[in-house]
Amino acid sequence: MVKNGRKTITVTSGKGGVGKSSIVSNMAYLLGNMDKSTFILDADLSLGNIDIMFGMHPKYNVKDLIDGTRSIEEVIAEGPCGIKIIPATSGISEFSHLSENERKILFASIQGLPKHDILIIDTSAGISSNVVYFNAMSENIFVVITPDPASITDSYAVIKVLHKKTGRKDFNVIVNMVKDEEEALEIYKQILNVTDRFLDVYLDYFGYIPIDKNVNIATRKQKLWVERFPDTHATKALMQICNRLVS
Ligand SMILES: Nc1ncnc2c1ncn2[C@@H]1O[C@H](COP(=O)(O)OP(=O)(O)OP(=O)(O)O)[C@@H](O)[C@H]1O
Ligand SMILES: [Mg+2]
Repeated sequence: MVKNGRKTITVTSGKGGVGKSSIVSNMAYLLGNMDKSTFILDADLSLGNIDIMFGMHPKYNVKDLIDGTRSIEEVIAEGPCGIKIIPATSGISEFSHLSENERKILFASIQGLPKHDILIIDTSAGISSNVVYFNAMSENIFVVITPDPASITDSYAVIKVLHKKTGRKDFNVIVNMVKDEEEALEIYKQILNVTDRFLDVYLDYFGYIPIDKNVNIATRKQKLWVERFPDTHATKALMQICNRLVS
């Protein structure tokens, strides 16, 4: 587990496209605004898009770090509010399964990051070896779920695999793209029913984010929705999640 910051969280999911990268980047912005020094590791290593969310064009990425051609200080890109980003590659398929040696290099670099309050790790969807590895690295695991039935089934699968492979028992759920909190709690109960029956894990409902057209409007312009639309429903809901995270 990473030990040099105050808190390391991983945002993961069973199904793709549930809003992980969107949540990670906008959450980092809110935390930065709260004066929390925040790092993001884009751990969707072969198809990263955190830099796109911020409208950035970083010079180096995790490949340069793993190749040993650049130091972690050189690879870190600076975003708004002092957010520091370790960008992934885009389209380098070898990085979808890190070797033991590559993991060691990456882990040592993360351990050597300057002191910070929060490190947020954005993973790819699914149950690949990288996903298991990055979840095992962090103190708190956040699983993003949407009302899509496939998302609910795949979330159960990812929790089961993470529990079996890492021994972790505590999982936090964020329900995204719902009409309101009532629907979010309904989705949470659906997954809780199954995990309670079949797995020895604890599932904590951490919060929800409503489906919000302003999220898409901002995302298409490569802007953060929390910055562009500070009063929109999704921003208010994510603010509550961030408050809970730092409290
Ligand atoms: N609350 C929301 N309301 C409306 N649209 C949303 C919401 N959350 C995310 N989206 C949209 O869903 C799409 C997918 O989001 P994102 O890329 O963050 O998902 P992801 O889980 O990181 O996907 P992947 O698994 O491919 O990495 C984006 O177009 C984003 O703008
Ligand atoms: Mg993503």
